[in-house]
Amino acid sequence: MEDKLSRVAKTLTSSPIQQLSQLAQRCNAINLAEGFPDFPAPPLIKSAAISAISSDFNQYRHVQGICDRLAEIVKDTHGLEVDPLTDIAICCGQTEAFASAIFSIIDPGDEVILFVPIYETYGGCISLAGGIPVYVELDPPQWMLNAEKFLKSITGRTKAVVLNSPHNPTGKVFSRDELEIIAEACRTNNCLAVTDEVYEHITYDGIKHVSLASLPGMQERTVLTSSLSKTYSVTGWRIGWAIAPALIASAVKNIHIRLTDSAPAPFQEAALTALTCPSHYFKSLRQDYEAKRDFLVELLATVGFRIPFKPQGSFFLFAKLPENCLLNDVECIEKLIEEAGVVAVPGRGFFPSTSCTFEEPNMVKETGLGYQKRYIRFAFCKSEETLASAAKKLREFVRAKGSLG
Ligand SMILES: Cc1ncc(COP(=O)(O)O)c(C=O)c1O
Repeated sequence: MEDKLSRVAKTLTSSPIQQLSQLAQRCNAINLAEGFPDFPAPPLIKSAAISAISSDFNQYRHVQGICDRLAEIVKDTHGLEVDPLTDIAICCGQTEAFASAIFSIIDPGDEVILFVPIYETYGGCISLAGGIPVYVELDPPQWMLNAEKFLKSITGRTKAVVLNSPHNPTGKVFSRDELEIIAEACRTNNCLAVTDEVYEHITYDGIKHVSLASLPGMQERTVLTSSLSKTYSVTGWRIGWAIAPALIASAVKNIHIRLTDSAPAPFQEAALTALTCPSHYFKSLRQDYEAKRDFLVELLATVGFRIPFKPQGSFFLFAKLPENCLLNDVECIEKLIEEAGVVAVPGRGFFPSTSCTFEEPNMVKETGLGYQKRYIRFAFCKSEETLASAAKKLREFVRAKGSLG
């Protein structure tokens, strides 16, 4: 039967993360692994969705009001001039917006630059389009963009650069200097940029998210993707968008229609309510997450993890195993699941060279240090109760064992 599968389907196998997820379920472990909230979404937008269903917004639908509102928002926040009729495609989450954008611009053999560590879905999606992911490592421990490495990776076949900021898994927010380097490279080499800005509202310590599209000469070559998922704690609603020059936005819409036809109608209606939230919503979102970040930083440091980089945005913490820990990331997670009753994500899945989930021609070379196997990603998009229970379990585990392992 396997010979009936396409070549690319065979390369997309389930990852070690999914296998650990099954172990975690069997052990009933507290979940600090997955990047979705376990607390309720804002009541106002839930009511809007319920009311949309009751009012029979239950058929295929394009809610132009979302595009109108997004055009106002990106003008206010990033100074972008966007035509809501031609430059925005509403999709099923950022995931579909990203996939449609890649299918709109990538031909077989085109190279796409990605920064490592990396949110796992991009590489597979580029491979599905026949593109070649080219991985450029950010420099630990601060995950800085290394201009030399980045510029060296650009070739005559480079079609686009993908930028995720605020960043999953590290919590890095790319600085203006780093954005300038990426923008300059895109302009000089006539490359496109595809941004993933799903954590745009989740930043800390007064740091502001800057969209790459807002840098000089970039709007005309950038596909900006984002969604409701993280900002409004509704990852299951599947409402996202791509904002791009009209020609690309039109291609994204055409592909989106072939793939899914339209995003869920009642949740598009509720998106109108979400996108008109007063500014104090975003302020308290940031404050709540900042308190959770600080709690987790303190907890993990107390139980023996190293925190070489404190998240500046998103809701992930990329902690490092202590030097004297003899376990690698996967072994440590297995131990945490079985003996502490807490699950997080082994870092290697964010380093394509070590994840072994699919074959890609342009993998980053593993360094002698093997640092890619020494990180663990913790998600803090969890209720206070969940974080408190995780804290209790981790402290008890370390007290009993004397160390992490
Ligand atoms: C960086 C990043 N982009 C995109 C997504 C998915 O976004 P959506 O739910 O809008 O498809 C996630 C989810 O974890 C993410 O971490």
